[in-house]
Amino acid sequence: MGKTPTWAVDAQIDGETTAKELTAIIEKAIRNGDLTKGTRLPTQRTLADQLNINVGTIARAYRQLKDSGLINARRRHGSFINDIKSVDGQSSDGNRAVNLRTFTATPDIFIQLFQGALADLGKDVGKLREISGYRTHEMLGDERAVIADWLGNGDVSIDPASLLFAENGTNAISTALIAFCKPGDTIVAESLTLPGLIVAARVFGLNLVGAPMDEHGVVPDALDAICATHKPKLLLCMPVAQNPTCVAMPEARRRAVVNVLKRHEVLLVEDDLYFDLVPKAERVPRMATFYPDRTVVIGSPSKTLAQILRSGYVIAPDGLRQFMADSLTAQSLFPPALTTHLWSRMIESGAAAEQIAYLRTQLALRADSLKHHLPKSITSGVVPFGWIPLPPTASATEFGMRALLAGVAMRNSDEFAVPGTPSAPGLRVNLMGSPAFDDYERGLKIITDIVGTTGYMADIQP
Ligand SMILES: Cc1ncc(COP(=O)(O)O)c(C=O)c1O
Repeated sequence: MGKTPTWAVDAQIDGETTAKELTAIIEKAIRNGDLTKGTRLPTQRTLADQLNINVGTIARAYRQLKDSGLINARRRHGSFINDIKSVDGQSSDGNRAVNLRTFTATPDIFIQLFQGALADLGKDVGKLREISGYRTHEMLGDERAVIADWLGNGDVSIDPASLLFAENGTNAISTALIAFCKPGDTIVAESLTLPGLIVAARVFGLNLVGAPMDEHGVVPDALDAICATHKPKLLLCMPVAQNPTCVAMPEARRRAVVNVLKRHEVLLVEDDLYFDLVPKAERVPRMATFYPDRTVVIGSPSKTLAQILRSGYVIAPDGLRQFMADSLTAQSLFPPALTTHLWSRMIESGAAAEQIAYLRTQLALRADSLKHHLPKSITSGVVPFGWIPLPPTASATEFGMRALLAGVAMRNSDEFAVPGTPSAPGLRVNLMGSPAFDDYERGLKIITDIVGTTGYMADIQP
């Protein structure tokens, strides 16, 4: 699909398309990993309308996919992709969708920098021996000092003792949920939030409520009403750049949100994941600055360096630290010494700064290109994502599916939507999903073509 121009693919799917051909197209997307386990397919009627195909053809294709075990149909819930492993040879035919969905390949520059860090560690037998056994936080004193300094970013002083290490950012978030909530409690997040948080709330038996957002992030009055009604334990929000909408919270909004939390005595989990991509002149104080005793800051270098270094961190004030430490202990007893050490080594050698500088240049270039192709898209300039708002009546899943059939994989707002909370439809483009700039632009062209033909663009508000 990747190599096929948009309209060649669309031309193949018309009133003449047989169920067998449609089955083959969807099967290929599943085997390639472009349609992943659990993804819900559009209803037969919807897909028939979208693709201009007889609904009977769609029904036969879905049945064939079900018979071959590729999808399962749950009554009243829809059809979902099953868990199938990519078969060798089928995913490497050079015909995959352009990946604007998730991080799968790491830029070469990181590989070189990481190679250097590994080689240095390989020569440092004393250090290798030291970190090869179980390490407590106290035993990771050097790493704590270096990373606390990095997280201070030259702006604030962070006490190394307030810093704890988790396995990754997702784990740092779960750690806070385990530390401060019990089943039946309510938590609040932005109405579009991290898919991992949505799953965590379900697994932990928490009631997740979505807070409305505007162009500055969480709306304080709406949060106030939620706090009054639901008495939540905590709010998790992403002020640096909201994932997926890319909204950055200005200082006034950060203060206003914190004031609501103070009034209702609600804890804050501040997701800080992209802080180091923000240039110095544009930095805004962390929300923790305005609510120091009741905020836990979490993050990880998984997006700014690479997924292999998903060394999560937690900055917790005195009164909350032991709860977080106990929660971490309950999950893994000891902090992850190797990734934490490699991260600190890359900070000390200047490799982390070099990688950030590279990413900033790439992100600026790719954000410009996104704006050029889709002028009403939203980019923050600092996160590796862009957001394409769709009109309120559009179905994000259907648009995502249509784009996939035309050769580009993206995430759509239905994947981030807090169940039961209204949210605006949109598409999230991963600016770094395809390390090659040409592939990235090819993906954008496909989206632009589809947006043009659906007429969505005229409706999308800036
Ligand atoms: C804002 C934000 N927070 C947390 C996470 C989870 O990070 P990690 O990959 O380290 O688990 C992500 C990952 O997409 C993210 O974008």
